Amino acid sequence: MHAKKYNIRTAGQANIPVLGLGTWQSTGQDCIDVVSQGLKMGYEHIDTAQAYGNEFEVGQGIKQSGVARDKFFLTTKIFPDDMKFEPEKLMAAAKRSLENLDTDYVDLLLLHWPDDRVPLSETIPALCELQKQGLTRHIGVSNFNIANIIEAKKYADVPIVVNQVEFHPFIKQKTLQTFLNNHHILLEAYSPLARGDVFDNEVIKEIADKHNITPAQVSLAWILSDKHRVAIPKTSNPDHLQGNLDAMKVHLSAEELEKIGKLASSDGRKIEHPDYSPEWDD
Ligand SMILES: NC(=O)c1ccc[n+]([C@@H]2O[C@H](COP(=O)([O-])OP(=O)(O)OC[C@H]3O[C@@H](n4cnc5c(N)ncnc54)[C@H](OP(=O)(O)O)[C@@H]3O)[C@@H](O)[C@H]2O)c1
Repeated sequence: MHAKKYNIRTAGQANIPVLGLGTWQSTGQDCIDVVSQGLKMGYEHIDTAQAYGNEFEVGQGIKQSGVARDKFFLTTKIFPDDMKFEPEKLMAAAKRSLENLDTDYVDLLLLHWPDDRVPLSETIPALCELQKQGLTRHIGVSNFNIANIIEAKKYADVPIVVNQVEFHPFIKQKTLQTFLNNHHILLEAYSPLARGDVFDNEVIKEIADKHNITPAQVSLAWILSDKHRVAIPKTSNPDHLQGNLDAMKVHLSAEELEKIGKLASSDGRKIEHPDYSPEWDD
């Protein structure tokens, strides 16, 4: 049985399925198969990026699934290497992604990281132009702090609908989340299982045992309990694929949600971030 699906509508009317399939480190035939299985199983949202080197395989997985392009939400991201945030290079990079993915459009195109070598006054209008030309339905950013977003919004004449950032029970992101909510920008949680760290946490394990579900499902259900958030867990394992999707059916009590909410700390980042990371908000 498929989990009950639900989407979040953002500013700019992006209609985003709340549970997506992450694909970082999914490669080769495994990537093709997991994307295909995921779509056939009922995933309606796939997350990839140029930097993952798997857009071609994601495209093959989509083809293998037989699921029509308009039945799911597809995101890719442009990485700021080789000065790709210069307008002309950004345009060329987006076209390359579409070729690799073998699609006419993506639903969401993200700037993967901020890049202070190219001013946002140049990059953001070019990103908006890609939306107007129909290469992407919506635009967004990733790993942007509040200051970056305020700056980006100055130059955007279409809504920035998403900021994709590290988010799981161990990291606060409270200030960022409040800011995003106030600006109707969705927080898209990457590394929503803290790359596996949620599996060993006693509070999460106890709640999982009580409901007879997995710690992964507890973490995902907790993230999705706030209707301003989307989660994109990565898996290449078919059993995990179904279990993660089923997290949409899980309801945790207010007391359980509060207990998990207390696990976060200011130094709760689990992912090693590069030197060009912005100064993170708490
Ligand atoms: N914008 C960015 O800068 C950025 C950065 C990082 C990630 N992302 C995106 O976010 C996605 C998810 O983040 P992530 O890959 O860093 O970490 P994650 O989703 O928190 O964790 C993935 C790990 O958990 C395992 N796993 C998944 N489901 C499981 C389950 N039900 N039971 C046991 N193990 C499970 C996976 O192994 P198996 O494959 O064996 O299941 C994998 O080792 C990425 O794939 C990518 O699409 C974006």
